[in-house]
Amino acid sequence: MSGAEVDVRHVRKSFENGRIRALEDVSLHLEPGELVALTGPSGGGKSTLLNLVGSLDRPDAGGILVGGLDVTHLHDAARYRAETVGFVFQFHNLITTLNALENVQVPMLGGPRSRAERERRAHELLDEVGLGDRARSYPPTLSGGERQRVAIARALANDPQLLLADEPTGALDSETGAQILALIRRVRDEHATTTLMVTNDDAVADQADRVLQIRDGRLSAPATPALRPQS
Ligand SMILES: Nc1ncnc2c1ncn2[C@@H]1O[C@H](COP(=O)(O)OP(=O)(O)OP(=O)(O)O)[C@@H](O)[C@H]1O
Ligand SMILES: [Mg+2]
Repeated sequence: MSGAEVDVRHVRKSFENGRIRALEDVSLHLEPGELVALTGPSGGGKSTLLNLVGSLDRPDAGGILVGGLDVTHLHDAARYRAETVGFVFQFHNLITTLNALENVQVPMLGGPRSRAERERRAHELLDEVGLGDRARSYPPTLSGGERQRVAIARALANDPQLLLADEPTGALDSETGAQILALIRRVRDEHATTTLMVTNDDAVADQADRVLQIRDGRLSAPATPALRPQS
C-alpha cells in the first residue's frame, strides 16, 4: 500500500451563514508519501482544512481529490474515512472502557476481517508502536505518549493511504512529542503514507518534508527562517 496523492483546488469554507470565512481559496498538492506540516495562528483554518480533506465536512466551493477520488461529494464518506484515511488528534480520543487491543480494532469493525484476524492485526500494530506489552491496558492507565501511540496504531488499522494528524504532539511534553513525531516519520518511511500534520511546534514542523502556513484562511510560505521548506 502506498500513499495517496492529494489535490486541494480552490477550496472555500465558511461558517455561520458566511459570517466566518474559515478558508478562502486554498489550493495545495501533496505527493504520495510526502510528510507536510501545516502551521499558523489559532483560528487560521488548519483544522477546517484537515476536516475537509478527511471528508468530515464539505467545502462551500472547490474540489479535493485524494488518490484521484473527489472526496467532497462522496455517497459513502464513512467508507472513505474508514478505508483510506487514518486520523490522529491532539487528544487521543480513545475509548476509555476498551483496552488498547480493543481500541485499535475499532476501525476494523464492519470490515472484511474475522475476529481472529482483527485481533492479530491489532497485536501487530501495537508491536509496531512499541506497546506490545500493554495490549490489555486501559487508556487511563497509560501515559500521554503511550495513549497517543495507541491512537496512531488505531489510525493505521486499515492501512490508510493518507494520515491526517491535528496537533498530534500538542498535549505532550517536548521529549514525548519528539518520540511521537519519530513514530509518525517511521510510519511514513515504512508505509509511504501521505501525511498532513497540523503543528504549532517549530521543532516538530522542522522534521517535515515541507511546511505550509495558513493564516486568515489563506496559505502562505512560512515567515520564520527555521520553518522554510528544505528543498
Ligand atoms: N463548526 C464551526 N462553526 C463555526 N465556526 C467554526 C467552526 N469550525 C471552525 N470555525 C471557525 O473557523 C475558523 C477556523 O477555525 P479552525 O478550527 O480551522 O482553526 P485552527 O487553525 O485549527 O485553530 P487552532 O490552532 O486554534 O486549532 C475560526 O474562526 C473558527 O472559529
Ligand atoms: Mg485546530
